[in-house]
Amino acid sequence: MNHPYPASEIEAGAAKRLNVPDYVKHQGLIDWVASIAALTKPDRVVWADGSQEENDRLCAEMVAAGTLRKLNPEKRPGSYLAWSDPGDVARVEDRTFICSRTREEAGPTNNWTDPDEMRGTLNGLFDGCMRGRTMYVVPFSMGPLGSHIAHVGVELSDSPYVVVNMRIMTRMGRAVYDVLGESGHFVPCVHSVGKPLAPGEKDVAWPCNSTKYIVHYPETREIWSYGSGYGGNALLGKKCFALRIASNMGRQDALSGGIGWLAEHMLILAVTSPEGRKYHVAAAFPSACGKTNFAMLIPPKGFEGWTVRTIGDDIAWIKPHSDGRLYAINPEAGFFGVAPGTSAKTNPNCLASLDRNVIYTNVALTDDGDVWWEGLSEPPAHLLDWQGKDWTPELARANPVNGKPKPAAHPNARFTVAAAQCPSIDPNWDSVDGVPIDAFIFGGRRSTTVPLVTEARSWEEGVYMAATMGSETTAAQAGATGVVRRDPFAMLPFCGYNMAEYFGHWLDLGHRLQVGGAKLPGIFCVNWFRTDENGKFVWPGFGDNMRVLAWMLGRLEGKAQGVEHVFGTSPRYEDLNWNGLDFPRASFERITSIDKEAWSREFQLHAELFQQLSHGLPPALSRVKASFEKRLAA
Ligand code: OXD
Ligand code: MN
Repeated sequence: MNHPYPASEIEAGAAKRLNVPDYVKHQGLIDWVASIAALTKPDRVVWADGSQEENDRLCAEMVAAGTLRKLNPEKRPGSYLAWSDPGDVARVEDRTFICSRTREEAGPTNNWTDPDEMRGTLNGLFDGCMRGRTMYVVPFSMGPLGSHIAHVGVELSDSPYVVVNMRIMTRMGRAVYDVLGESGHFVPCVHSVGKPLAPGEKDVAWPCNSTKYIVHYPETREIWSYGSGYGGNALLGKKCFALRIASNMGRQDALSGGIGWLAEHMLILAVTSPEGRKYHVAAAFPSACGKTNFAMLIPPKGFEGWTVRTIGDDIAWIKPHSDGRLYAINPEAGFFGVAPGTSAKTNPNCLASLDRNVIYTNVALTDDGDVWWEGLSEPPAHLLDWQGKDWTPELARANPVNGKPKPAAHPNARFTVAAAQCPSIDPNWDSVDGVPIDAFIFGGRRSTTVPLVTEARSWEEGVYMAATMGSETTAAQAGATGVVRRDPFAMLPFCGYNMAEYFGHWLDLGHRLQVGGAKLPGIFCVNWFRTDENGKFVWPGFGDNMRVLAWMLGRLEGKAQGVEHVFGTSPRYEDLNWNGLDFPRASFERITSIDKEAWSREFQLHAELFQQLSHGLPPALSRVKASFEKRLAA
């Protein structure tokens, strides 16, 4: 493995102080840990084993340090609440870098810095950054331990909050070393909150640094994260490894003669019809646009006999199987979901998962030691908000934010919970082979323009629709919310290489599978978010999305009807099952209509995206665009 600190530079005696457990046999790993310890200079090194005892000890230490609060064990057994620094509440896309050899390899949608220059900067920042702290060695597997689809990582972090979250979000602990053996490959991940402690200095509850760097070196498959404790920036198995590095790995496989694979920002669900036919669907929506809700959907009244089961809520690794089909695994083992808006009405399965063994971050605290967030229930008379300040409905109204009562929970407040706790979890959710995918769904948050659902006519046209997807920004990323931006495949912040080449990778993979005689998954594009003249959502969403899902499966079976238009096929009013819902035809027209002028403007935005991505843009996409525009004009 290529890392910048050879063992020879390690100060004498440092290796001895590493406390390497005797079950760790991987000398390359030990050398790397020694080199990072020599650079970051922690007071001690602790090798996390993933045990319950270790978890309880770390949580108790964090309670003593003020990082965590233990919640009322009668209301939320085994659960804790963390309040972050107010400046460390979301992913920092402007501080996230893909340091490939050349700028072109990272592409115009990623921040890029020359890798040598970045190593210089990070060497400076990491030098001594763990002084006064413990460096934890956190071994983890993305995907079931030992599965041929899984990959191993090791995160070195000075944050115990990271350790206990990684234990939920990944298969973390001692068993990973059995998989690694003496020389297995792992993705090295280095994380520091970036706040060394002087001797005797008292720590703050949520250490972090206003300087932040989330850095990926695709060539050496390394991740370095500095200055943030927030999940998406600090739990390096998730966005950094399972999306940015893994997307590189999947493409690299194709470049080096394999068929290639996909690492996608997608939920995975299984849906079974009353006749017992089971389908698997993978769906990409941008952050905080309802992936968790869709993955845990409960069919509405009128859909008795249908079941939906959850396999993953955020990330899918998708690989071609010897039967020619695409199989997906959820590389994660937990959900790091957005709490606000989650309720017994919007997502009962999720809420039931959250009754025990949860780490909450930036939600509000009730007077009886429970948690609360906007949308959960009627607001209590008094809370401590996510910054520990008194909150009452009156105070909230008196101090509005963006014209709304001041929220008690941060809009990007999160829960971390084991997937196995979800009542709708599929029995095959951690199958080592994954599940065969029948359909891909892509959806953005668009108050106008994009119809409720469209089936693409072909793989190429489906890739075009996914590539040109736009969405209004949410609180999941730092910066303004509600601004429409192109978010191709919901991967804008997560694609670890040139986005134009990523489109090419999707097209090529489809082509290779088709040539091999495979039936490719159907591709659908959805939009749950169209609004009326008062800004209210027209489509009820949540469980009623089942109506759209059932139509898609009907299309796959060749049974459901629809009407063909510019971009593909959409249902007419009479093509959806309205059992149990009184949804007026006029409202349906409103969310399925295609406005010619709006679409001309939309194509202008597609053109701007293609201009930005012109280097390496697959010609097929320009051809699809021209044919759509011709249809629109006709
Ligand atoms: C997430 C995100 O945390 O997309 O899943 O931001
Ligand atoms: Mn996500």
